Amino acid sequence: MPAMTTQPRSTRCIPDRAAAPSPADGPMIALDDVAKAYGGRWVLEPTTIAVFRGTTTVLIGPSGCGKSTLLRMIVGLVAPDRGTVTIAGRRLDAGSVSDLRRRIGYVIQDGGLFPHLTGRDNVGLLARHLGWEPPRITARITELADLTRLPAAALDRFPSQLSGGQRQRLGIMRALMLDPAALLLDEPMAALDPLVRYDLQEDLRRIFRATGKTVVMVTHDMGEAGFFGDEVLLLGAGRVVQRGTLDDLIHAPADEFVRRFVSAQRFPGLSGGEGRNAS
Ligand SMILES: Nc1ncnc2c1ncn2[C@@H]1O[C@H](COP(=O)(O)OP(=O)(O)OP(=O)(O)O)[C@@H](O)[C@H]1O
Ligand SMILES: [Mg+2]
Repeated sequence: MPAMTTQPRSTRCIPDRAAAPSPADGPMIALDDVAKAYGGRWVLEPTTIAVFRGTTTVLIGPSGCGKSTLLRMIVGLVAPDRGTVTIAGRRLDAGSVSDLRRRIGYVIQDGGLFPHLTGRDNVGLLARHLGWEPPRITARITELADLTRLPAAALDRFPSQLSGGQRQRLGIMRALMLDPAALLLDEPMAALDPLVRYDLQEDLRRIFRATGKTVVMVTHDMGEAGFFGDEVLLLGAGRVVQRGTLDDLIHAPADEFVRRFVSAQRFPGLSGGEGRNAS
């Protein structure tokens, strides 16, 4: 833990407005008082978050506020300086990280595919490594191509021979290959044109519902946050400033920062292009 010049501010999200689903079997993902510092500066202040099974939580917030750091912490790529991460009741630590990582699908903005492998080989990589028999791998890939509506021909091309939307569908297939308990997506549609994004949003929401996955997604797009999020968490400078439904954030902003953030998107057709919530 680096030496700090200041103590982190208090930890709780304000206000806790969301009627978060709380099934008896506890959260799928629990972050308890986790914090992270780089170079003596807190990039994530002590934060406590529970994500319940089968729900979708969306993280929004300005660039650099710690959204990706939080996702990386859940998937075990970044170790917290304090606090604990628990996945499906199991604490994430050096002994459990490789096992738990296999139970979490992780999708990044450009899909993160290996350029020298075909789509099929990218999707099947980990299953091969784990010793799955080839027919089982083929059957699972066919099932996932169907689920994500990826054309079969795209499976045997290299990432550079595919569109951004197809690459992203492959990234999602790869994340789902081992049927993970949870799915983390870091701005999965940010680089796509609006029509492709629209289709993929529809498909993803259908997939989340059909598979009952627990999902944590980062986006900069407020419409997307509302479309997917059972709960939306707005982060600012390393802490959760408000959590709730998107409606809560719009109609009962916790402070001026929240009000400005949710108003700061342009919508075509509105006079002057101002955000729909600007007042
Ligand atoms: N490995 C690292 N070393 C040092 N600083 C880091 C590291 N990773 C992230 N940071 C810093 O931590 C802060 C939070 O980064 P993070 O990537 O979590 O932001 P973000 O909210 O995902 O931003 P964006 O919306 O631009 O993706 C930033 O100031 C970033 O520069
Ligand atoms: Mg990020």
